[in-house]
Amino acid sequence: MENFNFYSPTEFVFGKGRAAETGSYVKKYGGSKVLIHFGGGSAVRSGLLDTVRASLEESGIEYRELGGVQPNPRDTLVYKGIELVRAEKIDFILAVGGGSVIDSAKAIAIGVPYDGDFWDLYSGKHPEKALPVATVLTIAAAGSEGSGNSVITKEDGKLKRGTGSDLLRPRFSVMDPALTQSLPAYQTACGATDIMAHVFERYFTNTREVEITDRLCEAVLCTMVREVPRVIADPDNYEARANIMWAGTVAHNNVVGVGREQDWNSHGIEHELSALYDCAHGAGLAVIMPAWMEFVYKHDVMRFCQMATRVFGCAMNFDDPESTALAGIRAFRRFLHDIGMPINFAELGADPKDIPALVEKFGIGDGRTGGFVKLSAADVTEIYKIAAAAVCE
Ligand code: NZQ
Ligand code: ZN
Repeated sequence: MENFNFYSPTEFVFGKGRAAETGSYVKKYGGSKVLIHFGGGSAVRSGLLDTVRASLEESGIEYRELGGVQPNPRDTLVYKGIELVRAEKIDFILAVGGGSVIDSAKAIAIGVPYDGDFWDLYSGKHPEKALPVATVLTIAAAGSEGSGNSVITKEDGKLKRGTGSDLLRPRFSVMDPALTQSLPAYQTACGATDIMAHVFERYFTNTREVEITDRLCEAVLCTMVREVPRVIADPDNYEARANIMWAGTVAHNNVVGVGREQDWNSHGIEHELSALYDCAHGAGLAVIMPAWMEFVYKHDVMRFCQMATRVFGCAMNFDDPESTALAGIRAFRRFLHDIGMPINFAELGADPKDIPALVEKFGIGDGRTGGFVKLSAADVTEIYKIAAAAVCE
């Protein structure tokens, strides 16, 4: 195991009806004037926004509002948010929504105290100051409610880029699984795919002797394999929703990834798809992640066998381990297909003709990138091609 620090300071406020306590937590963490940031309307329709407003009022906290965050959140709204927060002397950002709303809130939080263009902080410059951020989560997916990351799309040039800092870890996150019951099945499945991908990015590692995190990863993955079909069949299954929601947080606050090298190429390769086609991040991952697995599995066949046997229940073929590894990848793709995810370019609405442009934007040039397997631009091209033509066996 490698040396590590683990810092996850967020207070998770989990369970039914907990959004009504939001005001008291804002108070606890020092907010006096809040920006409520939200998306395209689901929080309005569900009545959640009213609950949050009432809770802030009850705690004597002033607030302003900025809605309209789109999935794959855009820089243009972040600029508006920064301006509003500065003009109104707001001191606390409250995201009410999913990963996109939370990431937009985080961008505003680091943009306000920054002197230059906030996009610098998504182009390699490290954030040094941030307003406090908190969340009321409405979808189990990105893990942004516990992560120190934010991903924003620059409209001009369709560039999707991320930043990371412990400053971005939310002070608190309200997590009521019942709030996710209004999600369309497709969004539930997109979120589930993202959660599984966050674990796989960590699971496929060259670090040896990491039994504890291997087993934690497998616990999250097995939970998803059991619970996702249950919520697709019965969207009101609170207990299954609760397990998935907590899985989404531990999948990405790094508790399952400490002390081990991580990969993250599938995420980078996917981000170019959601930037170009504005598809859901999870849907893009459903197309990319199994293709990435098919391209890299020979690097460590036994690790793929471990996934196949422990997560997807495949039988181990000791005479031909490669066949077991491939059976595991097939089982993963079949699982994604069965929960309603696209598994190739056509189903995603992507065009194979764009592959050279996608690779160009991914921007490795002559270098190599990634943890488990270091990929060149030619390798990434190959993965997009496998993804384009994938079929469910
Ligand atoms: O905008 P509204 O009306 O709220 O609708 C949203 C949106 O259309 C809807 N939705 C959310 N909660 C709902 C609901 N509809 C009904 N009932 C509810 N309870 O779902 C749609 C998708 O929401 P979004 O926030 O985009 O989903 P998600 O949480 O998957 O976030 C995706 C974004 O997070 C980034 C992705 O790249 C993408 O931009 N990521 C952020 C990460 C991070 N910050 O750590 C890591 C991830 O790997 C990921 O890259
Ligand atoms: Zn993700």
